[in-house]
Amino acid sequence: MLNLGPLFERSDQAISPTSPERRIGKGPAPPPHTPTSAVPHGLLQRIGEDRRRSCAETAQRIADALIPIIGSPFYCREGVLLYHDDCHRVLAALAQAKATAHLTLTSPPYNIGKEYESSLPLADYLNWCARWMSLAFDVTSPRGAFWLNVGYLAVEGKGKAVPIAYLLWDRSQFYLQQEIVWNYGAGVTTKRAFAPRNEKWLFYTKNAEDFVFNLDDVRDPNVKYPNQKKNGKFRCNPLGKNPSDVWQFPKVTSGFQRSSRERTEHPAQFPLGVVDRIVKVSSNYGDLVIDPFSGSGSTGIAAVGNGRVYLGVELREDYCRASAARFDSFLRLRDTSAEQEEFALL
Ligand SMILES: C[S@@+](CC[C@H](N)C(=O)[O-])C[C@H]1O[C@@H](n2cnc3c(N)ncnc32)[C@H](O)[C@@H]1O
Repeated sequence: MLNLGPLFERSDQAISPTSPERRIGKGPAPPPHTPTSAVPHGLLQRIGEDRRRSCAETAQRIADALIPIIGSPFYCREGVLLYHDDCHRVLAALAQAKATAHLTLTSPPYNIGKEYESSLPLADYLNWCARWMSLAFDVTSPRGAFWLNVGYLAVEGKGKAVPIAYLLWDRSQFYLQQEIVWNYGAGVTTKRAFAPRNEKWLFYTKNAEDFVFNLDDVRDPNVKYPNQKKNGKFRCNPLGKNPSDVWQFPKVTSGFQRSSRERTEHPAQFPLGVVDRIVKVSSNYGDLVIDPFSGSGSTGIAAVGNGRVYLGVELREDYCRASAARFDSFLRLRDTSAEQEEFALL
């Protein structure tokens, strides 16, 4: 008999639907939680001296250009720039300084009463988003991209969990290439709805046709039939398959014995895996990646770990302090890994 698990009737472990074994807490234990790693190995790759120096110089040049307009950054080291400020002010200053970003990758507050936001009436919230998205558009380079991650909110009298993507998708001047569904395993549970296990990413570009898209850098090597041929030729790309528009990356979890190793104090932290993929596909070495709602600084680590320059903006000083410490320890860890690699080669 097929082993489909205890809830399937055709399984040799099947439990009758009326059996008390079906009740929560009575059935067999699920497999243990697998934590994510603190930093995906690829982000600790060695970045050549020239490239590191050039990223650090680019960041310093941007910081210098912004000083007369908005003052000094909160943090500036090895190509990482963090401003403790309102993103509207920093984006406007970047435009004034004629700086261009190649990729903006972000997740704004969702207007759902989290500790870092004050709730606005829906129309005001959507206008607020339109405003910062327009400022981001102004600083995006001609072949640049904008990746927007959003969840759900309640719309009075209309819907309980309305995807914010449906409300915001056409509120900027960017061209929408596609929607990516980000699916994850852990999350809240619900009794009168299916447990929410996805958020959207909207992938936009400044130009509809001409934009950076490094598909080969993000191919999924986990191909099911790698040796399948057609007319004597391998059917699939030897670098792997296109990862599709449904992505599975574990969320950053918290809680006793189930907390992700990359967890910080920030309640809405991007997992490094998902932002690593976006940085790789939508930017090149030395490019400027910005996150106007930097939070824990995950975008910064993905950017700098891939040899890009990072500019983040965060309104709360405690999050700025925590992410500055996170950047420091990431840069230290990267140097240590490079040293270990050198020793291994001796
Ligand atoms: C959804 S969280 C982003 C979390 C981030 N993606 C991460 O990986 O940690 C939104 C963040 O934006 C910050 N924020 C809210 N309004 C802001 C503004 N006007 N300018 C800059 N940051 C802001 C909040 O303090 C919060 O940390």
